[in-house]
Amino acid sequence: MEFSAVAKFILVGEHAVVYGEPAIAFPVLALRVTARLRDWGQPLSIVFRDNDFSLIYAPGQAHPLLKMIDLVLGETGSEPPQVCIEIESGIPVASGLGSGASLSAAVGRALCGALGCVLGNEALNSLVYEIEKMHHGTPSGIDNTVIVYEQPMLYQHGRGFKQLDTFAQFHFVLGDSGHASLTRPAVEDVKRLYEKSEAAKNIITQIGKITREAEQVIIRGDINALGSLLDLNHVLLQKLTVSSEELDHLVKAAKSAGALGAKLSGGGRGGIMVALAKDQKQADAIADALSLAGAAHTYITTFGGSEK
Ligand code: PMV
Repeated sequence: MEFSAVAKFILVGEHAVVYGEPAIAFPVLALRVTARLRDWGQPLSIVFRDNDFSLIYAPGQAHPLLKMIDLVLGETGSEPPQVCIEIESGIPVASGLGSGASLSAAVGRALCGALGCVLGNEALNSLVYEIEKMHHGTPSGIDNTVIVYEQPMLYQHGRGFKQLDTFAQFHFVLGDSGHASLTRPAVEDVKRLYEKSEAAKNIITQIGKITREAEQVIIRGDINALGSLLDLNHVLLQKLTVSSEELDHLVKAAKSAGALGAKLSGGGRGGIMVALAKDQKQADAIADALSLAGAAHTYITTFGGSEK
């Protein structure tokens, strides 16, 4: 039996979302963590297929994925099943693609599959959120929500999420700087700025405005306006000190290749950036330009229209 969970990227609103502003994120449907059940009758374990790493389950251990097992067993009132969960992930870690939340969701789904029980998306989402707290301290909740529901979402803490429906088609190109970067230090640095500077508070408010506008232009399908909003959002993130030379370089390369807009995506300082292309042909050209500019990987992801 095979289970999986997708990657995600944040289109607009990262960092500001921690302060109650909205953010918009999209799933990357072609990029997944897969969790397969094998070796029935063995003690419950998680094995990472690509790097010979494994974890044997025992209650109360600190590893986030073993904690995820504790939470699922608690939620479903079950005993650990005797099976190995084999993980295969195409999602680079610490890069803004939500690999932590995706791993937790895939393990949660596989474990429920092994137990023969059903855990609805709402329950799974709140368990994955608990694990996100172990990774990030004060996560907004956007990663786990988009990953569990596999839908583009506008998310605002306290107001929950709103699915974004559009008739337009969007072509995004993601460029991975190849430089892993943890979200938590970036979030903590922004917090220090926020607490001591009115200018930083103002930037957070401006990012919130950009995200609300982006919601409207996505619904209207105005891709040119969306591109300009991405550019503006990148400048504000630079001011919050969460960009990097590599990310700025990739953003420039995407723009030179004709992107309608481009910005860093996620926690920043490393990880990925996103560019908006007008069509598939331009997306291919932008991906080539990003590779030439030093991107470790590029991913093209299309949403809406006939390819939804
Ligand atoms: O780097 P990621 O994909 O984990 O995104 C972090 C997004 C932040 O807004 C910076 C933090 C959060 O919890 O939303």
